[in-house]
Amino acid sequence: MEVNMKRIAAERAVEWIEDGMTVGLGTGSTAYWAILRIAERVKEGLNIRAAASSIRSEELAKEHGIPFVSLDEIDRIDLTIDGADEVDPDLNLTKGGGGALLREKVLAAASDKFVVIVDESKVVSSLGAFPLPVEIVPFGSRLTLNALAALGGQPTVREKDGQRFVSDNGNWIADCRFGRIANPAQLSAELNRIPGVVDNGLFTGMTTAVVVGKLDGSTSVLR
Ligand code: A5P
Repeated sequence: MEVNMKRIAAERAVEWIEDGMTVGLGTGSTAYWAILRIAERVKEGLNIRAAASSIRSEELAKEHGIPFVSLDEIDRIDLTIDGADEVDPDLNLTKGGGGALLREKVLAAASDKFVVIVDESKVVSSLGAFPLPVEIVPFGSRLTLNALAALGGQPTVREKDGQRFVSDNGNWIADCRFGRIANPAQLSAELNRIPGVVDNGLFTGMTTAVVVGKLDGSTSVLR
């Protein structure tokens, strides 16, 4: 039987959730498995409340009976579990393949522990093969795209099903091809200095641990 690497990584990370915690729910096809496993543990008696990084994760959590809390009601999150598109040896990440990077970063920054769950194909020697998602405001987007191009990003405005993709925040995503990203923290700072940029998918210095699901059915933890 084929190993579901995303699922085994997700389920291992969910073991770290303890009674009484406020938990951050990530977004994407790996976080999906974490949410389902959390829901099972809640049915078994785990007492937690959860905040979500996207409307679709919020809906999934509610549908499966996970007690939900709005970010407007809390000041900290104990543990957030989320996927990533790429992980480098310093545990810097590229995120936003699903377009939820801004809310994901808000949660990660407010979390005491930020645990990333990936299949082994996401572990890379340097970031950049995966196009970097950058969330931009629609206003003046041509100027913002010009600025991203001037930084070397070769931006393309994301579309989905033939329509422009719009984030949960009403913004657009520019997928940028920078090639190998030698200094993720520096590039992230440069991108966020562009006025029309809301945030970008580089997560640097935020990761507590990465749980990697492997094809042989095992998991490993990078710290
Ligand atoms: C959502 O915007 C993303 O940051 C996801 O966390 C990331 O793209 C990983 O997604 P998958 O788990 O679906 O690969």
